[in-house]
Amino acid sequence: MQSSGTSRLHVGIIMDGNGRWAAARGLPRYAGHRAGAGAVRRAIEAAPGLGIATLTLFAFSSDNWRRPRDEVRALFGLLRRYLRSEVAQLAETGVRLSIIGRRDRLPDGLAAEIARAEGLTAGGRRLHVRVALDYSARDQILRAVAAAPRDAALTAETLSRLLDGGGPGADVDLLIRTSGEQRLSDFLLWECAYAELHFTPRLWPDFGQADLALAMQDFHGRQRRFGGLSPAGTAGDAATPARAAAG
Ligand code: FPP
Repeated sequence: MQSSGTSRLHVGIIMDGNGRWAAARGLPRYAGHRAGAGAVRRAIEAAPGLGIATLTLFAFSSDNWRRPRDEVRALFGLLRRYLRSEVAQLAETGVRLSIIGRRDRLPDGLAAEIARAEGLTAGGRRLHVRVALDYSARDQILRAVAAAPRDAALTAETLSRLLDGGGPGADVDLLIRTSGEQRLSDFLLWECAYAELHFTPRLWPDFGQADLALAMQDFHGRQRRFGGLSPAGTAGDAATPARAAAG
């Protein structure tokens, strides 16, 4: 199956390389994160025109708590300012904002500001931007399993729905990672089961609309078979495990 050009796609981005961008300019790491916020704006602007319905951005992993206190404080300060300064514009342009990840360890008052931004943008239908904050995919999966009803067998659908932001559209179509690194770093592990992967050497603060367009072009050139065969190979009716075993 060639990826359809008209579908409303879910793209995840591991925004990497802010620190290296800053170091290359002799600037503090914080300056890289601030420039990264500019790249977030550009990606949000470009996404609807590229057929993207949902954009999930990895802004702070649960492992990022290991970073120096000043950098963590600066990152949350930046996120707080972003929420305050952008939310009206997001609402006006039909962008829904929501957060996935833990909310119980965020700095004072941030969870309330997030809830306010989510409320103000809830009606957005043009693009859904999900920001992953204090996020760990493994942690999400463990919590979903713990929250699953005990009186019925656990299915993939049930578990999907129990993940933050789970349900229809949660599966990722394309995962992008910038800065030349090629790993998943505990991001959307369940939702990326059939994601296409796109790695670019571009550092996140330099990532622009042309880079997103290129990633989408790469995606549309991929054959997605979801474990089956390409269309030329699917003339017969599909097997099931039992029918195939019966010969
Ligand atoms: C990884 O680069 C980036 C982060 C840990 C933070 C991402 C945050 C932003 C882009 C800030 C703005 C976000 C929003 C949603 C407004 P790194 O610091 O690990 O870079 P390095 O690998 O070069 O050191």
